Amino acid sequence: MIEVSDLAKRFGNFDAVRGVSFTVREGESLGLLGPNGAGKTTIMRMITGSLPPTGGAVKIDGLDMYDHPAAIKKIIGYLPERPPLYPDMTVREYLGFAASIRGVASDAIDEAIRRTASICGVTDRLNKLIRSLSKGYQQRVGLAQALVHEPRVLILDEPTSGLDPRQIIEIRDLIRDLGESRTVIFSSHILSEVTAVCSKVAIIGNGRLLLEESMSGVSGRVGEGRRIHLSVARPHMVDEARLMALDGVISLKGASTGNWIIGTRAGIDVREAVAGAVFEMGAGLVEMKSETISLEDVFMRVVAGGQA
Ligand SMILES: Nc1ncnc2c1ncn2[C@@H]1O[C@H](COP(=O)(O)OP(=O)(O)OP(=O)(O)O)[C@@H](O)[C@H]1O
Ligand SMILES: [Mg+2]
Repeated sequence: MIEVSDLAKRFGNFDAVRGVSFTVREGESLGLLGPNGAGKTTIMRMITGSLPPTGGAVKIDGLDMYDHPAAIKKIIGYLPERPPLYPDMTVREYLGFAASIRGVASDAIDEAIRRTASICGVTDRLNKLIRSLSKGYQQRVGLAQALVHEPRVLILDEPTSGLDPRQIIEIRDLIRDLGESRTVIFSSHILSEVTAVCSKVAIIGNGRLLLEESMSGVSGRVGEGRRIHLSVARPHMVDEARLMALDGVISLKGASTGNWIIGTRAGIDVREAVAGAVFEMGAGLVEMKSETISLEDVFMRVVAGGQA
């Protein structure tokens, strides 16, 4: 559905995006992750045709973006990082304007405004000037303009930025619902949001694609690799080499006096063996807690290592 191949963007002599390729199939939701300045917005702008690439290609439904820009823009809904809102228009005027430039028939515009305003929670703001809205409401209007022509492909650049916690959950649920029948690419700094919404993640760092994997692949990679927090009463009795030798233990780090963090291999539950060893050492087991490795851990590892 969306095919990005070897996409590159150079600003002056700075390579903001370098050789990024990925595909998003119909009905998939891709979460684009990466630190500030990684190149996410630049990639999204190129996918939506608002920024010409220096190299590579973008195909949507098999059509090349640069040969068929008008046809492609009709099937894409785009929420830019800074939505292009006209402050002196009312929300109703602005959504009507957005609908008409995206080809919604004039007798269908009122209904399109009603539907998207209701979805985005701005029905009671329709007659207000955009300049008078709070940041979160402006963000909702930005999202509404991306949905007004019922696009099959949605490109959303940090759709939940600036929203309050309740609205974050509502918009996240909305994106998940929309994602059931549409293809979605969205960027976010909130990793739990990506976990909740996406079927796939791509991690970008320094303009490069560092990891592209299905959510199930991400959890398979780390989901069962747990970290165990171990506390003992008599730390001097602990024989670290003996713990390290247990099957499934891959790392051991002293956290503070009497506390260790044990890294374990996926699929092996080491807790019973650790408890037994601690008992035999006479170190006095105080507490053992296991923690599942999250997308956050994967993100930190991939970004720090600069590679998958
Ligand atoms: N028009 C431009 N001219 C020059 N450099 C630019 C331009 N647009 C972006 N850049 C640079 O390209 C790099 C990538 O920026 P981009 O906005 O794509 O990052 P991002 O991943 O979206 O970051 P954030 O998480 O902060 O939104 C940055 O170093 C940025 O300064
Ligand atoms: Mg950005």
